Amino acid sequence: MESTPDHKFVDNVSAVLAGLILVTVVISVLAITIANRTALLRQSDSASQAKLVERIQPFGDVVIAGQETTLYGQDAVASMELAAATPEPDSGAAVAVASFDSGEAVYQSACTACHSLGVAGAPKTGDAGQWAPRIAQGSDVLYEHAIVGYQGEAGIMPAKGGRADLTDDHVRWAVDYMVEASQ
Ligand code: HEC
Repeated sequence: MESTPDHKFVDNVSAVLAGLILVTVVISVLAITIANRTALLRQSDSASQAKLVERIQPFGDVVIAGQETTLYGQDAVASMELAAATPEPDSGAAVAVASFDSGEAVYQSACTACHSLGVAGAPKTGDAGQWAPRIAQGSDVLYEHAIVGYQGEAGIMPAKGGRADLTDDHVRWAVDYMVEASQ
């Protein structure tokens, strides 16, 4: 029997459909196989969880004396010995305090970066015009602004110029130095 154009069309469509069904079946079988192989990861019982954690644990642990640490295996023993041998950090230790013998020294160390050139709106040391209205506020305001920090119209004066190691007196000396140099 000779196939008519209609028959040919039906044959072709059938072939394409059969191919698509085959592909679908192959993909399904693959998906099921992969899912079965990775099933271990989905097990939620504690034994397999523990095994998983053990396999992916880092090579080293940071151990801080006086703090509880979760460790596994030999590392735990070694670190307990280490922790026992490590002295407790002195929690009451203060921030290291810088030592200066003059306002100029403080200024050169902590304030000159902004105030010698007038960076970011800082009033330039030695510029009497810029300093006159500031000096007019009185020393206490200047001290306060320099120690605690403040935001003015020109910019931001960070507390102690960003130097937490300075004492309040250090900052007062530096302010006095700047004011004297700017009159
Ligand atoms: C990061 C830059 C920066 C550093 C470092 C810095 N200052 Fe300033 N300071 C400023 C700026 C900006 C202003 C102006 C803020 C404004 O008035 O808008 C200012 C203003 C001041 C004023 C004027 C306050 C007032 O009320 O007008 C004093 C006094 C002062 N600084 C002291 C110091 C001292 C002392 C140091 C060092 C310990 C220091 N500054 C370090 C940026 C800085």
